[in-house]
Amino acid sequence: MSTAIGSKLTLDFLQVTEAAAIAAARLVGRGMKNEADEAAVETMRTLLASLDVEGTVVIGEGELDEAPMLYIDEVIGRGSLRVDIAVDPVEGTNLVANGLPNAIAVLAIAERGGLLRAPDTYMKKLVVGPRAAALVDIEAPVRVNLEIIARSLERSVQDLTVIILNRPRHAQLIEQVRAAGARIRLISDGDTDAAIATSIEGTGVHCYMGVGGAPEGVLAAAAIKCLGGGFQAVLMPADELQEERCRKMVGDDFRRTLRIGDLVPANDVIFVATGITDGDLVKGVRFMGRTVKTHSIFINPLGVRFVETVHRVNTTSPLL
Ligand code: FBP
Repeated sequence: MSTAIGSKLTLDFLQVTEAAAIAAARLVGRGMKNEADEAAVETMRTLLASLDVEGTVVIGEGELDEAPMLYIDEVIGRGSLRVDIAVDPVEGTNLVANGLPNAIAVLAIAERGGLLRAPDTYMKKLVVGPRAAALVDIEAPVRVNLEIIARSLERSVQDLTVIILNRPRHAQLIEQVRAAGARIRLISDGDTDAAIATSIEGTGVHCYMGVGGAPEGVLAAAAIKCLGGGFQAVLMPADELQEERCRKMVGDDFRRTLRIGDLVPANDVIFVATGITDGDLVKGVRFMGRTVKTHSIFINPLGVRFVETVHRVNTTSPLL
């Protein structure tokens, strides 16, 4: 399997999410979600601009008229390696504003055409680890999927933990999971981190279910594809305008079940995230006077790296 992108530019990509996470982390718990997002966006864009790629943003801060930076179709980089780029400089803006766990700075890069251009709509998601990946079905009843996951992991349904976003729209789903006997972890935000945790052994997370953002879905799917997990999704446009966007970006049959190969057609793909606050996958940024410590996860088809970096302030990067 080709890993041309990852092997050439691993450190460069890592520095992008590290710097974005540091920028946002300075505002953790200060109730400034927009400011934290802006700081991370600006930092990420500055570093992406210096990368040795010719990158097109396919998932970013919005359409050209909505976002001055990292807008969809923006071309960034100063090299010739043609790639598609998906970013979420702060995944979990409320988490940062309130100093809550699981906020991350995220970047996924793939060969051109390798990431679904997901419209900014909701998406119904079912995410599981590698052992249940080929067995579950997003159209099947919740109980059936939970039984399949439990069997694949050689345990009972009672020993499963399912993550669900704590939203009124999930009241019925929560009831169904409880009725099946599985344990639930309700989260206030940040379903990218939750989805990826299903596919990394030892996190104690076995399934992510529910409706969250479609762009976050594609970002998580980039990681899940490398990890061999399962991700099934259905786009859920809220109005005619969103339906039109779905049609334009995904095709007339946009209501079909999207599988991992639809979300991430690429084989050459990498996913990088750096913790802003402490989370299931990585720890958050630590400020220590003359140094700053970051924790990141770097995933490509060859494996997963957990990277701890100690940045010397004013020397490693002028952006620190
Ligand atoms: P932001 O970082 O843009 O605030 O998104 C956080 C998030 O919780 C995502 O992880 C999730 O997919 C989405 O929002 C859920 O949307 P909503 O808050 O509208 O239910």
